[in-house]
Amino acid sequence: MAIEGEVDHVVDVTDVKATAAAVAQVKPDAIVHLAGLSSVADCSRDPMRAFQINAGGTLSVVQAVLGLKAPCRFLLVSSGEVYGAAAGPGPMNESLLPDPMNVYGATKRSAEIIALQHRHQGLDVVVARPFNHVGPGQTPTFVLPSFAQQLAKVPRGASVTLEVGNLSAVRDFSHVLDIVEAYAVLLEKGVKGEVYNLGSGVGRSIESMLQLLIARSGRQVTVTVDPKRLRPVEIPTLVGGIEKAKALGWAPKHTVEQALADVLAEMERNNPV
Ligand code: GDD
Repeated sequence: MAIEGEVDHVVDVTDVKATAAAVAQVKPDAIVHLAGLSSVADCSRDPMRAFQINAGGTLSVVQAVLGLKAPCRFLLVSSGEVYGAAAGPGPMNESLLPDPMNVYGATKRSAEIIALQHRHQGLDVVVARPFNHVGPGQTPTFVLPSFAQQLAKVPRGASVTLEVGNLSAVRDFSHVLDIVEAYAVLLEKGVKGEVYNLGSGVGRSIESMLQLLIARSGRQVTVTVDPKRLRPVEIPTLVGGIEKAKALGWAPKHTVEQALADVLAEMERNNPV
């Protein structure tokens, strides 16, 4: 939906010419580069396409920005997934050397290298590494909207069998509103060439998130593991240390309970029973 005073341009970021033309027409002061494949599973299914979009698409936008020959802050939205095998049991800070374990993480690390390299050619770049964030609008490709959608398909009080993947993984969940606010802070106050983790700083197992969701849902739930939902390679724990972003004046304001409530409410609205 176009907001008054704004212009919508739809462009395929792998189309170098079209991207350059759109950026030249808009002449932005800042770009938040989120365009890409965001699902770990989708990227593993088609690695070439994932690199073309996530890495090649980043190069295309970076070149378009440099082609402006005018000041334009470039915020690259990477991912906590880049840490991969380097991730330990506790919160990691940005000085840890990334070691991606899956195609998605590798495409995002590649995008970081592409963007950061171009600071030497004058790009005013800042890199965000968000960890898992949820809220209305996220599709059931991802874990919590998937669980919420399955719950919403039966009325409150009814019984439902919920299909799940690996519940032992630990992730750092935030409300999407906190992550979006952090992007605004990074656009204004992030230091050129620096990388910032964005998350809650707290690790939660998928199992614990599922239990919170079930308790809130008011349904009678039986849980069953669907082998198709298990990943061949899984990072056991992924939690971000967020002190560097907090030092800029940002802090999370929303709880994961609120995020879960918002996701469940949206799924119930979309699946009236
Ligand atoms: N999708 C999905 N579906 N994941 C499941 C399921 C299920 O039924 N059951 C368990 N999981 C586990 C996955 O194995 C993974 O450990 C965790 O739940 C989270 O999976 P996703 O929600 O698919 O997200 P992700 O962690 O792979 O990636 C998300 O977070 C990254 C930042 O940490 C995405 O939002 C990425 O775009 C983002 O960069």
